[in-house]
Amino acid sequence: LGVRVFAPATVANVVCGFDVLGFAVNEPGDEVEMRLTETPGVVIKKITGDDGRLPLDAAKNTVSASVQHYLQHINRLDVGVEIELHKKMPIGSGLGSSSASTVAGLFAINKLMGDLLTPKELVPFAMKGEELACGYGHADNVAPAILGGFVLVRSYEPLDVISLPTPAGMYAAIVYPEVDVPTKDARQMIRSKVFLKDAVTQWGNVAGLVSGLFMNDFDLIGRSMKDVLVEPTRSILIPGFEEMRNIAMENGAIGFGISGSGPSVFALTKDEETAKKITKAQQQHLHKININSKAYVSSV
Ligand code: HSE
Repeated sequence: LGVRVFAPATVANVVCGFDVLGFAVNEPGDEVEMRLTETPGVVIKKITGDDGRLPLDAAKNTVSASVQHYLQHINRLDVGVEIELHKKMPIGSGLGSSSASTVAGLFAINKLMGDLLTPKELVPFAMKGEELACGYGHADNVAPAILGGFVLVRSYEPLDVISLPTPAGMYAAIVYPEVDVPTKDARQMIRSKVFLKDAVTQWGNVAGLVSGLFMNDFDLIGRSMKDVLVEPTRSILIPGFEEMRNIAMENGAIGFGISGSGPSVFALTKDEETAKKITKAQQQHLHKININSKAYVSSV
């Protein structure tokens, strides 16, 4: 018995919501093929598309480790599982690459076990995968990869994940400048203490963004897409960041920022055409400064 599952890339943080906001896109994403075997234990059979960068060791790979964790939880360590992971998106890109693989794996095992858990109940298992990948089990990639659309992680302890509405017609214009920014490093560089004044600005913006999603108010969403805590530090690692922001805003983006921990950037737009125009101009700029890039346009 076997299944093949796709899970999508995600844009975490959504500028002001560090570790608490994220949304899923249609593409890119990863695929997992999984089948049950007679021999107990979880085995990674094959990984494609990763240029040999991901571990085949089942204890170190985020997909197998979270599947193992799931089987332990449902008390089925007698089950044998073979996994093939097909990476179809860049690693270390800020687009929730590890989360897409992990979530595809968890959906696959849950399906093979007869949908014992609800999608929401899979979130903590996927967070274990994030912990393995970058040292901290943040949920702002895995929760939207599992639930789709915009998601708020209201609380981590206890975990409280809320699906938010997505205004009709919204598109994401994503550009990945091909430089490596591992999430682990990008997390270590952030200040752990903040000024109250900055915190006030930040939570005002988070509340504004969430309100804008509920009210279908693109202008309010755009005004709220500001980050005074994390972006000033992380944007330094992203080539052409300010120029890409200018290109996005001059071409009619609702807002612009870093996707996850970078180096990918994203803009939200009111239509597909604007999103395409923005990614094209941003890629042209990156090309001028000798940085290769990939672009994705997706409805949100
Ligand atoms: N919230 C996480 C971070 C997302 O910004 O570090 C990583 O993609």
